[in-house]
Amino acid sequence: MDVVYDWDRAQPPTALADFEQHWASRSDPLSLSGVWRFHDLLPFAPRETAVTIGEGQTLLQRSDGVAKYVGLSAGELYLQYEGLNPSGSFKDNGMAAAFTHARSIGATRAACASTGNTSASLAAFCASTKLMRAVVFIGSGKIAYGKLSQALDFGALTVQIAGDFDDAMRRVREIAPRMDLYLVNSVNPFRLEGQKTIMLRVLEGLHWEVPDWIVVPGGNLGNSSAFGKAFGELKYLGLIDRVPRLAVINAAGADTLFELFENRSVRWNSGNPDTAVVDQYHEQLDATKRRASTIASAIEINRPVNLYKCLRALELCDGVVREVSDQNILDAKAQVGAGGLGCEPASGASVAGAKLLREQGVIGADDRVVCILTGHQLKDPDATIAYHTTDQEMFNRVLGSRGVNRASFANRAVAVQNDVDEIIKAIQLYS
Ligand code: F0G
Repeated sequence: MDVVYDWDRAQPPTALADFEQHWASRSDPLSLSGVWRFHDLLPFAPRETAVTIGEGQTLLQRSDGVAKYVGLSAGELYLQYEGLNPSGSFKDNGMAAAFTHARSIGATRAACASTGNTSASLAAFCASTKLMRAVVFIGSGKIAYGKLSQALDFGALTVQIAGDFDDAMRRVREIAPRMDLYLVNSVNPFRLEGQKTIMLRVLEGLHWEVPDWIVVPGGNLGNSSAFGKAFGELKYLGLIDRVPRLAVINAAGADTLFELFENRSVRWNSGNPDTAVVDQYHEQLDATKRRASTIASAIEINRPVNLYKCLRALELCDGVVREVSDQNILDAKAQVGAGGLGCEPASGASVAGAKLLREQGVIGADDRVVCILTGHQLKDPDATIAYHTTDQEMFNRVLGSRGVNRASFANRAVAVQNDVDEIIKAIQLYS
C-alpha cells in the first residue's frame, strides 16, 4: 500500500528553498522537526495533528577521511548521520509519521517486529507521547544490547520470540490484526512518508543540489523504498531536475535483494516484476533452512517486506545492489568512527558498499556520494569493543565466528600498572 497525494489539491512548494522559511521559527516544534518542516511534501494529515518528539535534527557532514578510504576526491563524500535522532536511529523519522496516522484513527496499542531500532523508536514515542502502549516482538538473542535496553527502559512490553527477525515479523503480521494492534513496521506506508524526509535533509545540506549517489544499507528495505518515492515525487513536482542513483547494500549473510536483483535479474519492470522467481527463492530459503546471519544485526533479514517497493525505487533511480562482508562492514565502521561520527555495524555497510562500487568503477572518483549512517555507535557497543579488543578470546567469539579475522583499524587500550611512572611511560610510548 502506498500513500498517494492529489498534488493539484495539496499545496506543494514551488521551490525547495521555500522550506528555509522554517529555519527562523525553531520555537515551533513542527518547524524544528526534521520531518514536519517538510509537511507540504507529506500532507497526509493536517499539520496541527502531527506528532513529534524532536526527530530529524540530523546532520549531513562532509568527511574527507571517509572519502579517502572509499577512494573519492576530497569534498565528494558526505555522511547523513541519522544516529542523532532522539532514539538514536533513522526510525524516528518514520515513527513520527506513523504516530500521526495512528492518532488520527484512535489506535491505543502499537506493535512491531524488530532487530532493535524500530522497537527502540516505538517505545520512545509511546513513553514520550503516551498516545499508545508498545508491544515489541524481537528474535531472542538477535538484538544488540543498546537497543534492547531502550525498549525495556521506555517501558515497552517486550516479547522475545524463539526465532529470528523473519519469524517475529511473520508473527506480528498474524497477531496485529487479531488484537487490533497498530503495526508500525515499514509495511505501514506512513512510516515511509516520514523517512522520505531523510532525503529532503540531504538535499537541504547540499544547498538543494542533487548528489550523484545515495548509498544506504538494505534490511527490510523501507528506507530505499522511501528514498525512491521521495525522488519520484520531487521530480514529478518539478522541484528537482534529475534523480540521484541509488545503491542498496546488503550484508553478505542477509543478501536476498542482492541475490534477486543482481544474480536473478528480478526487476520492477514497470509494475510487472517476476514474482515467480521471488516466490521460488523464498521456497528455496525454507527448503534449505537458510537463516540470515551477520554482525550487522539491524539488517539480519532474509525476507524484506518492502522488496517490491525497493525494486520500484531501483528502477526510478537507476540503482544497483551490492553485498559486503562482515569484515568490510566493521572496517568501514571503524573508519567512520575515526572521523568522529560513530555508527553501528549496519550503517558501516553503506560506506563499505560505496568503497566496493568505487573499486568496481561504478562510482567515479569525482562523483558526489552520500552514505546514510542509519544508527548510532552506542546501539551496539559489543561489536565495537570486540573490534578494538586485545582479548583474542573475545575477538574470536564475537567476530571470528563471523569470518572476521583482522581489525586493521583497531585502537587498542593500553594496560598499565597503577603507578605514576608506568603511566607516564605508556603515554610517552604510545602518544
Ligand atoms: N540500519 C539500521 C541501523 C537499522 O536498524 C535498519 C533496520 C536498517 C539499516 C535497514 O533499514 O529496513 O529500511 O532497509 N532496522 C529494522 C528494525 C529492521 O527492526 O529496527 P531498512
